[in-house]
Amino acid sequence: MTDHVKVERADGVLTLTLDRTDKKNALTDAMYKTLADTLEATQEDRSVRAILFRGEGDMFSAGNDISEFAAHNGGAPNERNVLRFIAAIARAEKPLVVAVQGGAIGVAATMLLHCDMVLMSPDARLVTPFVDLALVPEAGSSLLMPQRIGHARAFAMFALAEPVSAQDALAWGLANRIVPKEELREAARALAVRLAAKPPASLIATKRLMREAAALQARMAVEDRIFEERLGSEEAAEAFAAFLERRPPDFSRFH
Ligand code: COA
Repeated sequence: MTDHVKVERADGVLTLTLDRTDKKNALTDAMYKTLADTLEATQEDRSVRAILFRGEGDMFSAGNDISEFAAHNGGAPNERNVLRFIAAIARAEKPLVVAVQGGAIGVAATMLLHCDMVLMSPDARLVTPFVDLALVPEAGSSLLMPQRIGHARAFAMFALAEPVSAQDALAWGLANRIVPKEELREAARALAVRLAAKPPASLIATKRLMREAAALQARMAVEDRIFEERLGSEEAAEAFAAFLERRPPDFSRFH
């Protein structure tokens, strides 16, 4: 259990709060483990009827911790808890609500595609810099993002890391509502409490009907394999080193 994820239960709502503000809530393996363990345990826990994700500080999350990506590059492939976390949100039967302020980068942006209701503050920005990091889209986003917002917008997000504003996220169907930053936490909680009061079996069945689970699982398996290959690549080593050395990457030597 890491101190960087707070787990609270009240009023039928499980709240998972990212709390690593000095690193912009960048997600470590230990954080994924707590998230995955908690989500897996919640599947069977009838007292939890809705799940809320939020982040402390000025940013929801800067995505995967890049120093952990760098450590993985060149190291032996291992079972990463991020995959357990992604599988858990993709399979979650209970409604997922998320409150996004500041930025949501990488997996913090793609996880929103698995959330049922997304609230944003006006300063929220979604960024998916997978190609800049010499990686590929993950968490089912190579399937879900173009389905949701169209190929052209999704490609610009993935290939150019073009940020998506809260206004665009709302207009493109990535968010439900924009609420003032100071009201975001309470608005998201109120929404989760509302969902928790609904007939649970009906809600679960509705969510199940709305998802093409088999296609999603199949795509995620392909993404995982290619992502893992990219993670060990020379291109990725250059991208991670550039981030950690605070310099622009140089991909000119790669063909
Ligand atoms: N992994 C590891 N550390 C991260 C991080 C990440 N994804 N995002 C931020 N941090 C760390 C920074 O290294 C810095 O640490 P330090 O204070 O020890 O030097 C600290 O968090 C604050 O970040 P900083 O870059 O100084 O803040 P900023 O406001 O100038 O920029 C971001 C914030 C999020 C825009 C910038 O940090 C960034 O681009 N991060 C990488 C995002 C990313 O590519 N994620 C992976 C997606 S797959």
